[in-house]
Amino acid sequence: MPVSWTEDLSVNNTTLNAQHKKLLNMLNELETAILLNQGDVRYHEIITKMSNYAKEHFQTEEALLTEHAFPDVEEHISEHDEFVANLMILMFEPEAEDNTPENVLAFLKEWLVNHIMGTDKQYAAYLSERGAG
Ligand SMILES: [Fe+2]
Repeated sequence: MPVSWTEDLSVNNTTLNAQHKKLLNMLNELETAILLNQGDVRYHEIITKMSNYAKEHFQTEEALLTEHAFPDVEEHISEHDEFVANLMILMFEPEAEDNTPENVLAFLKEWLVNHIMGTDKQYAAYLSERGAG
């Protein structure tokens, strides 16, 4: 099932919300490619684009949290780093039996939605209070 962005996912910041929407759109693009059996090349193209964009997004988010001295910034950065490390394993060790496109998609979807709803939401009020929306 495709994931759509709703207000529930809002982190009260226009730039970060727009980046989250873009990541969810890429996730849906990946799902469509898998459902329509568009092949390995297309799968790798989307997953590479998504991982590059996720890194870009994490940098934006981390810079903003650092700029506003968000107390849990180090923990937040560790979560991003761990995700990127896991994603690299999934992308570059496709021979591992669990790394099927379906499993990779499920991992990405679960991580992204849980991260936005849980970890990202923790800074939403903090940023709003500082006028950083
Ligand atoms: Fe985050």
